[in-house]
Amino acid sequence: MEAYAIWNNKGGTGKSTITFHLASRFAEKNPKRKVLVVDLCPQANSSMLLLGGGIDGEKKLLDFCGKPVPQSVVGYISEAILNRNTPDVDDFSINVSSVNQRMPENLHLICGDGNLELMAPALNDEASRTPFPGLPDPWKWVHELFVRMRNSLDQSWTIFFDTNPSFSIYTELAICGATRLLVPVNADDSSRVAVKALFALLHGTNPPHQFFGNYTFAARASARGMVIPCVHLAIGNRFTQYKGAAAAFAAFSDATADQLYGEFIANSGRFSPNQGVISTKEDFLAAYVGELRDFNTAGVVAAHRGTPLSKMKQDYYPVHNDPEVKVSRQQLNLGLQAIDSVVDRIDP
Ligand SMILES: Nc1ncnc2c1ncn2[C@@H]1O[C@H](COP(=O)(O)OP(=O)(O)O)[C@@H](O)[C@H]1O
Ligand SMILES: [Mg+2]
Repeated sequence: MEAYAIWNNKGGTGKSTITFHLASRFAEKNPKRKVLVVDLCPQANSSMLLLGGGIDGEKKLLDFCGKPVPQSVVGYISEAILNRNTPDVDDFSINVSSVNQRMPENLHLICGDGNLELMAPALNDEASRTPFPGLPDPWKWVHELFVRMRNSLDQSWTIFFDTNPSFSIYTELAICGATRLLVPVNADDSSRVAVKALFALLHGTNPPHQFFGNYTFAARASARGMVIPCVHLAIGNRFTQYKGAAAAFAAFSDATADQLYGEFIANSGRFSPNQGVISTKEDFLAAYVGELRDFNTAGVVAAHRGTPLSKMKQDYYPVHNDPEVKVSRQQLNLGLQAIDSVVDRIDP
């Protein structure tokens, strides 16, 4: 079973938007699989989109988070820590279609929760508490919370984690719970810096820093022999020009591409195993870079109404104060084509 974390330690690159579109479309195209989104971002944006978008999605989210036992990541993590168990996913997940009929029936969500941020200090304390006979390695135990969740599910599931850009403990939990990473990257140079930082956070620097090198997530995970998920796909997001599969990476910043390829040359094991032969940068980009165009008004309407592009028609839609936002058939087709080109590269 694969579990994908959509992660980049940079905000606004499209993690939540991509989680929404990919998970819903993947579920549509794989009706026999059960798809679970775990929203480990306290902003809970992908949850709000999945639960119907706009004010409606926000209201639904608050209802789930406000239950006496929150039906959210906060509820799940609290029960796991308080009872030292692996809670049943059924007890905390929502069948998304029961709330938002436009969503496929095989899509499930453990929704995000603003209290995740308030919970972080307690999680940090829990991870650094003194070991005792029943709990010889609290750091590992806390960090493997979603590994245990994954192992509690059968092979018919595929998991998507949405993440927060800060490398806080809940982001570490998502990384540890994942087997693969999908990294949204924007077409600008600062993404080159982000890509470099991303590998330093996951695998540390060589040599490690004299002062803090032993305290990093990378050092702690490596000391325990924990498996770090591999980069499966870098997704160039919001590239306006969709140029077709042959030139899918044409708009991908050279600096970002060089940085990623350099990382691959130095440590190919940090990337998903690939069947093809990779001997040039072009081979590498074709294998590890996907592209999502800017969805334009179709994206705005999809987010506002919590509707996947596949369920939208050419029409005028009311969004906020604008009674008539136009979405054309061509725009929907191009958007869906782009989403499918990425979904087709997601293994169950
Ligand atoms: N492919 C896209 N087309 C159009 N708008 C997008 C696209 N990807 C992201 N956006 C917009 O960019 C903003 C940031 O995206 P978001 O998914 O919230 O990023 P993150 O989760 O990484 O912070 C949002 O307003 C979102 O609607
Ligand atoms: Mg987000």
